[in-house]
Amino acid sequence: MSQQRHIDELFEKIWDDYLLIAPSALSIHALLNASDEATHIVNDHIALRTLNFPHMGISALSQHFEALGYKHGSDYDFSDKSLNAMHFEHPNYDHPKVFISELKVEELSDEAQTILYGISESVTPQLMADSSCLFSGKHWQLTYNHYQVLLAESEYAAWFAAWGFRANHFTVSVNHLETLTELANVNELLKQNGFVLNTSGGEIKGSEEVCLAQSSTMADKMPVAFSDRTVDIPSCFYEFAQRYPLPNGDLYQGFVAASANKIFESTNVK
Ligand code: NI
Repeated sequence: MSQQRHIDELFEKIWDDYLLIAPSALSIHALLNASDEATHIVNDHIALRTLNFPHMGISALSQHFEALGYKHGSDYDFSDKSLNAMHFEHPNYDHPKVFISELKVEELSDEAQTILYGISESVTPQLMADSSCLFSGKHWQLTYNHYQVLLAESEYAAWFAAWGFRANHFTVSVNHLETLTELANVNELLKQNGFVLNTSGGEIKGSEEVCLAQSSTMADKMPVAFSDRTVDIPSCFYEFAQRYPLPNGDLYQGFVAASANKIFESTNVK
């Protein structure tokens, strides 16, 4: 099987898993298909979240993309959220980019660290050795109280503890739309159809000046089976990205830290 087919199949599996907890993404997909003349929606990137324990950190996830020809792009630091991130891109820009972040566990309280250490013990090297880990969800029990303890310190920690390994978002490439050629037009269409956008840092994060403009919906709320009860919490969201050319004429392929910082907040409780 060709590398391209392997990549397509992996992203299809990640997409199918994502849709299980982000049903709005399918509605938005249908809305864009009905409103735009593009023959298909192109995915700009996905984002994955994890913890910085060595056996399950960024490299444990990125190895599965690097095996398919992806290369390390840039590093990002979100010190106010205790996060590191890297992006990976394929030499063939038709393939989606991958943005992987990890929580700096050691910066949280002892109580939160103990909960996250317990989670890390449920993640085996065997699990991480197969690319199916990327859409495998959570492999541990979590009480609702422990979720609340994490949420009080780090929305990111709470999200990962509740949902585990899966795409946090997919991203519509506005550059590949035919009719809705500006991000602002996409945002208007979404709002007219009742979708709620993340307004932290403004509806549009970034601009032509930084070669990337992004917006996103607020995450859907879906039920999570905690070990003691089931509660609806924020799951996943859909992002929209418009890329602009660098001085050499090539479209910018990286990310903008100040914008990504605000995009993280799309999983905040409204
Ligand atoms: Ni993103």
